[in-house]
Amino acid sequence: MSEPLVPPVPEHVAIIMDGNGRWANARGLTRTMGHRKGVEAVRDAVRAAGRLGIRYLTLYAFSSENWRRPETEINDLLGLLKLFIRRDLAELHNENVRIRIIGDRTGLRGDILPLLLEAEETTRNNSGLTLVIAFNYGSRDEITRAVVSLAKDVEEGLLSADRITADLISSRLDTAGIPDPDLIIRTSGEERLSNFLLWQAAYSELVFIPEFWPDFTEALLVEALKKFAMRNRRFGALAEPGKMAGT
Ligand code: FPP
Repeated sequence: MSEPLVPPVPEHVAIIMDGNGRWANARGLTRTMGHRKGVEAVRDAVRAAGRLGIRYLTLYAFSSENWRRPETEINDLLGLLKLFIRRDLAELHNENVRIRIIGDRTGLRGDILPLLLEAEETTRNNSGLTLVIAFNYGSRDEITRAVVSLAKDVEEGLLSADRITADLISSRLDTAGIPDPDLIIRTSGEERLSNFLLWQAAYSELVFIPEFWPDFTEALLVEALKKFAMRNRRFGALAEPGKMAGT
């Protein structure tokens, strides 16, 4: 059970799930075992997020750079994602979870794309937690695709260049319609964004925690939310009167 939370609960939490390999290595297990345990942590995190009143949870499942890993590991990760959707889709749908997939869909293997589309389609009208799965996702790739789509509109005379605004760019990103993350958590002690939601993270609070992803629990999520609640978010403006100035 979760401890009582200090408001405000962030609307959108995004997580860089890191450390499956090191978790396994520390136990003399294969990396596959680490990823399997990672999926269990995903299940727990989705449920915890719903219980805590988070509206959007984005998980970095597979980056566009992960294709550089050995083929066996890529197959493991894709297999686990497929299994997760096959096994958990009905239950997530039952729990009113809406699934959105972000990342480049072009050129995806024929066994994975239909599953991702089915997950989105089945849960399209749900009104509970939105679970955003970043798959074949890289922020620079996402921004590049958005820029190309705007440039094509300009080329075709549908848009004049001086009408391009930050909001218009946001609306061409994979995350269109999803609020920017309030809080980004990265596990495993690494302290970088690794090409994750670079545009959307402009004002996100970042929390780095030392635990490896398979050890992630609701209690750790609550701890991160408490850190978030202590932060003084100013979005470039001045601190509110009466509040301590942050940095
Ligand atoms: C990082 O561990 C984790 C990943 C590359 C992928 C995360 C994927 C899952 C948890 C499983 C599938 C996802 C879903 C949504 C069902 P790492 O291998 O980089 O660990 P290391 O840095 O310790 O080697």
